Amino acid sequence: MADYPKNVQLKDGKEVTFRVMTDNDFDSLVEFYRTIPEKDRLFLRVDVTDRKNVESRFGNLDYNNAFPILVFERDKIVAIGTLFRPEFGWMRNLGEIRVLVSPDFQRRGLATILVRELFFRALKSKIYKLQAEMTDVQESAIAAFERMGFREEARLKKHVTDIRGRRRDLVIMTLDVEDFWYLIEDFVESHEFRIH
Ligand SMILES: CC(C)(COP(=O)(O)OP(=O)(O)OC[C@H]1O[C@@H](n2cnc3c(N)ncnc32)[C@H](O)[C@@H]1OP(=O)(O)O)[C@@H](O)C(=O)NCCC(=O)NCCS
Repeated sequence: MADYPKNVQLKDGKEVTFRVMTDNDFDSLVEFYRTIPEKDRLFLRVDVTDRKNVESRFGNLDYNNAFPILVFERDKIVAIGTLFRPEFGWMRNLGEIRVLVSPDFQRRGLATILVRELFFRALKSKIYKLQAEMTDVQESAIAAFERMGFREEARLKKHVTDIRGRRRDLVIMTLDVEDFWYLIEDFVESHEFRIH
């Protein structure tokens, strides 16, 4: 938490600010979701243009279970990346990452930087493994996560239904965080650790 807010430079030189979400961000967040074209909302789990759904997902935040980073261009949200972690149970050492970048900000390296931030958080929280879920038709997401070091671990046939009612394969991509634990000390000291 002490690391935020943080100014970050994208690969084209544009500066944005990373900040951890609070309850005061719901209105701006719904506004952001409403600017996202249907093609990028098609596979979201709930209708995020409905404020009730946003509140039920992010209300009363416990950052150990849901750690959402918002990205701002001035006072406008342009991306969100969240690390989810079950509170207890056999999946407690598994982290799930979800990212959504506004079309104007795509292909500028933003998701890569966001996922790196969430990876550091996972590393410091002793999460063993990170997972990202997407459907087979989300080629940009598959390409982006592959580029960040994730690999396809499973593909469940006709497992999910998009908001238009079409059934899609669910692709589960993972990254073994445990492989990087030995770097924690160096990372905490230097903040120079990179995924690649
Ligand atoms: C997937 C998504 C998060 C990528 O965000 P982004 O900020 O554009 O990603 P980056 O700029 O960091 O891209 C990193 C790399 O991923 C690959 N990539 C990203 N988008 C791509 C696309 N449309 N086609 C092919 N490759 C792509 C490229 O290799 C890219 O590197 P490059 O631009 O140097 O070639 C964004 O497209 C998005 O929000 N999509 C809708 C929601 C979604 O699918 N979320 C993922 C499920 S959790």
